Amino acid sequence: MADLMEAITALAKRRGIVFPSSEIYGGLRSSWDYGPLGVEMKRNIKDAWWRSMVQLRDDVVGLDAAIIMSPKVWEASGHLEVFTDPLVECLNCHQRFRADHLPGFHAPQSGHEEDETTLDMGHGPSCPNCGHREFTDPRNFNLMFKTHMGPVEDETNAVYLRPETAQGMFVDFVTIQQAARRKLPFGIAQIGKSFRNEITPGNFIYRLREFEQMEMEFFVEPGTDEEWHEYWIGERRRWYVDLGIREENLRLRDHEREELSHYSKRTVDVEYRFPFTDWGELEGIANRTDYDLRKHEEFSGQELTYFDQEKEERYHPYVIEPAAGVDRAMLAFLCDAYRVEEARTASGGTEKRTLLALHKDLAPIKVTVLPLSRNEALVPEARRVFDLVKPCWMSDYDDAGSIGRRYRRQDEVGTPFCVTVDFDTLEDRQVTVRERDSMQQDRLPIDGLVGYLQERL
Ligand code: GAP
Repeated sequence: MADLMEAITALAKRRGIVFPSSEIYGGLRSSWDYGPLGVEMKRNIKDAWWRSMVQLRDDVVGLDAAIIMSPKVWEASGHLEVFTDPLVECLNCHQRFRADHLPGFHAPQSGHEEDETTLDMGHGPSCPNCGHREFTDPRNFNLMFKTHMGPVEDETNAVYLRPETAQGMFVDFVTIQQAARRKLPFGIAQIGKSFRNEITPGNFIYRLREFEQMEMEFFVEPGTDEEWHEYWIGERRRWYVDLGIREENLRLRDHEREELSHYSKRTVDVEYRFPFTDWGELEGIANRTDYDLRKHEEFSGQELTYFDQEKEERYHPYVIEPAAGVDRAMLAFLCDAYRVEEARTASGGTEKRTLLALHKDLAPIKVTVLPLSRNEALVPEARRVFDLVKPCWMSDYDDAGSIGRRYRRQDEVGTPFCVTVDFDTLEDRQVTVRERDSMQQDRLPIDGLVGYLQERL
């Protein structure tokens, strides 16, 4: 399994999907850059989410809130007080760890995903770095990145990079509800960067300090919240399956009571069977009750209620929150799509081919045009075919190396269709379209190419 992660990480770097940030300076742990193919795939994930959560629904609207919000937001939300992880330091090598990541520790409740620890030295956890068995007592380490607004670096100017996008939706609830003239139930969705000063980032793009979230706050009448929670759990699980994640690699898990975030009445995680852990959180779907609206009302002095005209009642809506990570979703899609297969060669032998069997909507490049060779007559024809497809889909043109090698290059980045222009094309005005997974080839007229691809993409 570790080999699988190594293979995926190596492929991601070699093909410009994701690679370490600032590498010429030795990299910066937990910071990764998305290259030309990675940025396309990441955008496809976000587009698929936005399409399903906003575009295809008439009860959800979008938002792009500021990353740096008033520091009062984090006081009200509870993040300043409880958004912490238990930090311990090895007394021998002085390396620092998240206590709940060391076997034998169990930490108190915090507002952070996956916390389930309180101190239990009985089992004598040992330092993963040097093996020593003595640590400092756990101390709560706040995960928010702190900086200063303006030129004076003092406490009165302290601000924070948001650790979740969700608070934008809570503080803007009344403005958006009135501007968009929405009745309950309705949701506000946002995709954007969040920042957490994780003690132990790692596992490639699984746990980062700078990452992207796709979150939606769905405001409902109290009393209908549990039903809506079930609804969103089903919807969100289905989203991953519809985009190609194998069902056996997904599961739903209810948070234990002591694991629940400070704002949550019930949280269910969608988990994926990542190669480096048994099961890892992909997305959390929480019933946040009216906690956040009430807290912001208390701290801001502004009323954050909803007037139900039919019932002639004013109340604080309850909130159901599906909260997903873009980077984690990308890692799950990559892991699930990665295959190494025996494939037949043109000469009748077999060879290994590496394949990313990505859903067509997620594939970074949908169509690549390949002239059989760099022959003077073929290249302009192939360029014309490329000009036909590129306005319709993210496409590529590749004329370097043997045709077999070029097919393999496209397979390993998940391109669903390759279009080959050969010498017969010049006579019969036909091209060969090869499908990635079946490797089946169809010969068809250039005039029908866009229609043929449209049916399949
Ligand atoms: N607003 C609720 C919230 O932020 P969360 O479970 O802490 O809940 C939601 O985060 C999702 O964001 C997670 O399921 C995960 O996909 C992603 N996420 C959280 N912390 C992350 C990190 N350090 N690196 C990458 N993704 C992260």
